Amino acid sequence: MKTKLALAALTAAFAVSASAQDAPVDFEKQILPILKTSCFKCHEKEHEDNGKIKKPKGGLALDSAEAILKGGKDYPDENVVAGKPEASWLLKTMALPESDEYAMPPEGKGDRVSAADQELIKKWIAAGANFGAWKAVEAK
Ligand code: HEC
Repeated sequence: MKTKLALAALTAAFAVSASAQDAPVDFEKQILPILKTSCFKCHEKEHEDNGKIKKPKGGLALDSAEAILKGGKDYPDENVVAGKPEASWLLKTMALPESDEYAMPPEGKGDRVSAADQELIKKWIAAGANFGAWKAVEAK
């Protein structure tokens, strides 16, 4: 009886860890902080900073779901392509070697996105790039 119980507990533990792995990526909790750290310095929507108008670089803002999907001047509609990480420039540019002229953030201009975080973004895009209830970073 005791063994049977222990076995049941063990199976339950495995089931929990498996489902945690398959849990959908939460954009606001898991992806947004990565973008804030590595990309926001240059890719926030047009705003005033110390009396100066700051425009998003490359016409790409990453602080709202709409802007993320809209993309920038060179790759409109291809910044994040739901279900297609390999077609999504958001991911492709951060995966380039730092010395590449298209690498994001540009060489020496910010924190590189770790391989683990890139994997998370890949998983999120592959699963349909769902933003959940998140729409945009609140105005400052
Ligand atoms: C220090 C400033 C800076 C940071 C930080 C930065 N970028 Fe950029 N980004 C640029 C500039 C400048 C361009 C425009 C390059 C051009 O047009 O030649 C650009 C363009 C892009 C483009 C192309 C947009 C288009 O459609 O034309 C993508 C995608 C991009 N960045 C993604 C990112 C991501 C993702 C991050 C964070 C991991 C990031 N960038 C961080 C400066 C930055």
